[in-house]
Amino acid sequence: MSDEFRKQRLFSPGPTPIPLQFQMAALDKNPYHRTQEFYTVFLKCRKLLAKVMYSKQLPLILSSSGTGALESAVVNLTDESDQVVVINGGKFGQRWKQLCEAYGCNVNEIRVPWGEAPSPSDLVSALNSVDNVKAVFFQSLETSTGVALPVKELAKTVKDHSDALVIVDAVSAFGSEMIKMDDWGLDALVSGSQKGLGLPPGLSFINLSEKARMRLTKRSKFYFDLTRELKGQDDGRSAFTPATHLVLMLERSLSYITETGFDEINRKHQAVAEAVRESLKQMGLTLFAEKSPACGLTSVLLPSNVDGGILLRELAEKRRMVFAGGQDDYKGRLLRFAHMGYFDLDDIVAGLIALQEELQKLGHENAGVSVAQVFWRSYRARSL
Ligand SMILES: Cc1ncc(COP(=O)(O)O)c(C=O)c1O
Repeated sequence: MSDEFRKQRLFSPGPTPIPLQFQMAALDKNPYHRTQEFYTVFLKCRKLLAKVMYSKQLPLILSSSGTGALESAVVNLTDESDQVVVINGGKFGQRWKQLCEAYGCNVNEIRVPWGEAPSPSDLVSALNSVDNVKAVFFQSLETSTGVALPVKELAKTVKDHSDALVIVDAVSAFGSEMIKMDDWGLDALVSGSQKGLGLPPGLSFINLSEKARMRLTKRSKFYFDLTRELKGQDDGRSAFTPATHLVLMLERSLSYITETGFDEINRKHQAVAEAVRESLKQMGLTLFAEKSPACGLTSVLLPSNVDGGILLRELAEKRRMVFAGGQDDYKGRLLRFAHMGYFDLDDIVAGLIALQEELQKLGHENAGVSVAQVFWRSYRARSL
């Protein structure tokens, strides 16, 4: 059969599978963004996003990848020479650091070994080491390692020890991890369309607390001027042409999430994550983020005799299954198995079986357990 007709299964932590129902929401439409009809949809999306963020404030919708919204946070909430703290436990912690440095902030970095979560005590030391920290930046899910950071505890620590803004990158966490923006005292929450929401890349979101709104700086030069966006988006008008079709799809995805109830969606992600972890352990693999695993992504260390590059290639070419590998020092040594957004349980089982078989072909003997059985037993026990 030609590859064109073989189903591709995406287990990468973004982009994730896009349900046909979401694609259909835009398929026969030609929206014009300067109409009342479009403003209404845009505003509805902002309200639904706020619900999933557990926030009274309406998030801004930007047309960019997630990094655009990260950059908008840095440029609108810091000034040159500000002291900031960045928690860096992987590629995306590194990205906060690069962005803050690019905009001339003094970065006080907390380095966390890959695969581990930062402790609030490290944060206290960093906050006490310099005066007047303006903002603290970290991830909810560090996608390069699969670590879910203790967002609530970290935010509380910031509030208890400083007046800094708490700025959280939830690009990969939003839609799977539970994040309660207002209750947890987050000042900026950033996300994107191509992960937990099951949409194509192209939209990003940033929600600002009242405190963050009071502290907006004036140094954005043009596109990412959040002060201007806040004014216009109150009526559903974005300053520039938004990714119109994606906004229609967003409305469909968020309606699904809010009609189902995010608690329920989060619970399902947790059950799947636990079942995937159990299955991978039964295959003799070592969980990489064992102490603080995410519910949308599982990372495992590969056996030393297996080349991760070859494994990923075999899975992609022979089975049309796309997993993500490790980055930097973990290139070839890690496998990242995403189960965020609109995954299908039978696809996940198929992914586990394929992984087990390809590992065996590459010389990783394991007990020959039925991973399908392990998965279903664990999932059913959790989701009763
Ligand atoms: C945690 C996290 N932050 C930021 C980004 C960057 O998002 P984008 O690639 O959409 O710019 C990603 C993308 O994988 C991510 O996982």
